[in-house]
Amino acid sequence: MAHNGSDIAAPTLAIAYHSGYGHTATLADAVAAGATEAGADVTVIPVDRMSETDWDILDSSDGIVFGSATYMGNVSAAFQAFAEQTGRRCIDGIWRDKVAAGFTNSGGKSGDKLNTLVSLSVFAAQHHMHWVNLGLGPGWNSSAGSEHDLNRLAFFLGAGAQTDVDANSDQVHPADVRTCRHLGWRVAHVTRQLNVGRAASPAAASPGASSAPAH
Ligand SMILES: Cc1cc2nc3c(=O)[nH]c(=O)nc-3n(C[C@H](O)[C@H](O)[C@H](O)COP(=O)(O)O)c2cc1C
Repeated sequence: MAHNGSDIAAPTLAIAYHSGYGHTATLADAVAAGATEAGADVTVIPVDRMSETDWDILDSSDGIVFGSATYMGNVSAAFQAFAEQTGRRCIDGIWRDKVAAGFTNSGGKSGDKLNTLVSLSVFAAQHHMHWVNLGLGPGWNSSAGSEHDLNRLAFFLGAGAQTDVDANSDQVHPADVRTCRHLGWRVAHVTRQLNVGRAASPAAASPGASSAPAH
């Protein structure tokens, strides 16, 4: 999208997530709250209920934060169905150079959810998006630490949360909610920096890119 003065003042972000039982939805709201706090205009979009308007919002936003519950050690089938629906956009470069980041939630403390964050980041890379990492040191990793630390499960690639499988959606760990709130704030801040930079120095293709495959 064009980056005029108002875009720089308020980056537009979408939070595109899938949650089967509401836990990841709580985290999506936390990401949105952090981004809003940092001055972004935010839309939260459940990817299993996409409308045409939702696709338009994704296409026009400055950045997209992807979130998925971890199912079978990866993104959920519903998230992957959404990802596969973006194939044409990927070929056409519609999301190219947008900012991206990711979060996930699992039942196990690990639960193999690093693999989910890797999948989300690869998805973003296939769209030629700029991945923003979590930007926090590891929490709960010393005798002085506790489960109440920010980034208590010590992820770097994105935000990794854990919720007991029998918990309600309002019982997501407060430290994980704060960690996702931080991620939203960070993504909004980086997006604003990028928008300001683009106003001064527009995007350009490298000389070598002209001979590269188009997608
Ligand atoms: C089909 C299915 C597969 C799951 N696979 C994993 C898994 O690989 N690792 C894990 O730790 N938890 C796994 N879980 C538990 C969920 O990650 C956990 O319940 C999570 O909080 C669900 O998030 P949601 O409420 O946003 O759907 C699985 C749950 C389901 C329903």
